[in-house]
Amino acid sequence: MIRIQVPATSANLGSGFDALGIALTLYNQVWMEESDSIQISSRDNVPVPQDEHNLVYWAAKLLYERCGHSLRGLRIVQENNIPMARGLGSSSACIVAGLLGANHLLGDPLNQHQLIDFAAEIEGHPDNTTPAIQGGLVASAMEQGRVYSVSVPVSEKIRFAVFIPPFELKTEMARSVLPKDYSREDAVYNLSRSALMTASLFSGNTENLRVAVQDKIHQPYRRGLIPHCDQVFQLCGQLGSLGTYISGAGPTIIAMVSAESADEFAQQARAHMEEWGIADWDVSIRSAEAQGARIWKEADSF
Ligand code: HSE
Repeated sequence: MIRIQVPATSANLGSGFDALGIALTLYNQVWMEESDSIQISSRDNVPVPQDEHNLVYWAAKLLYERCGHSLRGLRIVQENNIPMARGLGSSSACIVAGLLGANHLLGDPLNQHQLIDFAAEIEGHPDNTTPAIQGGLVASAMEQGRVYSVSVPVSEKIRFAVFIPPFELKTEMARSVLPKDYSREDAVYNLSRSALMTASLFSGNTENLRVAVQDKIHQPYRRGLIPHCDQVFQLCGQLGSLGTYISGAGPTIIAMVSAESADEFAQQARAHMEEWGIADWDVSIRSAEAQGARIWKEADSF
């Protein structure tokens, strides 16, 4: 079998709506091999669709068809460490695993660029799929079906405190509350900050992050969909967050924190959240993952 490891991703980074994303040190694993039928199982207790609606299978089948092959079936084993519908790129991770796995099984007919384009085409925007493939901090733009992107490493000074709530928020819902039009003032507000975000995360200019993370495109409209959102933002500010934002479409909230104080930040945050009766939020410290999805050949151990 082959094993595909795909990192979680955090899109937008506040100001970079549909344009910026980073890969994080949290991973889904997928084992895959060709088969005469569809056999899908989960290694953990996370339930996954076991038919052709399974996202990994569906993406793999699309790639087979795009490359002129028909797919009889696949044996797929999933380990889903990226929680679903939380704004951490779980569906992108499944799509990327399906595409990369299928491409490998076919002898790599598509190159990385073509895989990036295909993944963005399926997902609709490239801000989760591209960092899942390339790793690092990725700025991307789509033009005429092609993704133009650059991946750069994130400064070692920065860690990401990830606050995952116990409830889901579907991206469709979180997009439906956004306005259709924005003023030029709001557009410029975000443009300037997202450019500042990329340069600051790369260079480690941490004092810029508080300003770079601000946004008028999506977060003001989404905060109301996330219970305790304002409380968690306020707490992060009090504990010394360098910049706090809603990860992707939410509901996960991420605080960028200095590497030296990251563990203490998480400990204090957990203690406060316990006092408030919201200890069921999962708080963990992650780094930016410089590498994107990876594939290994493995002896069958299932
Ligand atoms: N950029 C997307 C959004 C990420 O904010 O809606 C979720 O897929």
